[in-house]
Amino acid sequence: MSSAGPAGGAPSARPLTVLVAGGSGASGIAVARALAAAGHRVATAGSDQARITEAARKAGDGVSPFACDLAVLADVRRLRDDVTGALGAVDGVIHLVGGWRGAKGIADQSDDDWDFLERGAITTLRNVSRVFFDDIAASTSGRFAMVSSTALDQPAAAVASYVAAKAAAETWTMAMADGFRQASGSSGSPAAATILVVKALVDDDLRRAHPQRKFPGTTDVTDLAAAVVRLFTTPSAELNGARLRLAD
Ligand SMILES: NC(=O)c1ccc[n+]([C@@H]2O[C@H](COP(=O)([O-])OP(=O)(O)OC[C@H]3O[C@@H](n4cnc5c(N)ncnc54)[C@H](OP(=O)(O)O)[C@@H]3O)[C@@H](O)[C@H]2O)c1
Repeated sequence: MSSAGPAGGAPSARPLTVLVAGGSGASGIAVARALAAAGHRVATAGSDQARITEAARKAGDGVSPFACDLAVLADVRRLRDDVTGALGAVDGVIHLVGGWRGAKGIADQSDDDWDFLERGAITTLRNVSRVFFDDIAASTSGRFAMVSSTALDQPAAAVASYVAAKAAAETWTMAMADGFRQASGSSGSPAAATILVVKALVDDDLRRAHPQRKFPGTTDVTDLAAAVVRLFTTPSAELNGARLRLAD
């Protein structure tokens, strides 16, 4: 971990507490593993107790599992109490809940798909940001990040609901960046809210399952994880309100 001081929003040398929100999948395992390897205390949260426990086991030492439905505000408030009690106040939240739904075009975009996307991509993000905003803003190395999609570059009819949900999540995250700017008066909070943009995520299991596929322009979950770790060693002035492209 960097030994840089807090001036200018650079990270402190103390171990940080980082919550991976939506940590049960390959991306969550990779991100939690990399954060723990960088010396951070990691809480990883998923909606299913067995899946998040297994994900934490795969991520290795220094990663603690917490079962929580991040779409339910009261549950996220309880999560904050549990994580703070176990690991200390949260310095960073990495939001990984998303989901994907597509259709043929505009007319067949369904309400079910919108409800699913709103819950996963927007509601969970609103909840974790509302509950953890003050903790992140108070940290000398506070960081919030979400993962968005290159599909927003040229919204396609077939993914109208998906890109609309992701755009809402991006806009909320930009509003958080403004919140961090305002949090400490004229000097600003050293915290940062950042959007990481990928085309698609890949991992070794996916490559093994499709040995003939090439996955052009995709981002390996280990590269996403490395980018997340770098958030905590990069001055917040370079990160707050930034949209960082990880795709080719
Ligand atoms: N995968 C891609 O190709 C791709 C492309 C562009 C952008 N992204 C973005 O990158 C991020 C990570 O992608 P991903 O595909 O790894 O994510 P994901 O599978 O959509 O979500 C990650 C984990 O979140 C958990 N989760 C879902 N709902 C939850 C809830 N209500 N409360 C708590 N946990 C919940 C799920 O585990 P449980 O069901 O066990 O809780 C899931 O394993 C997402 O924001 C996604 O939109 C991904």
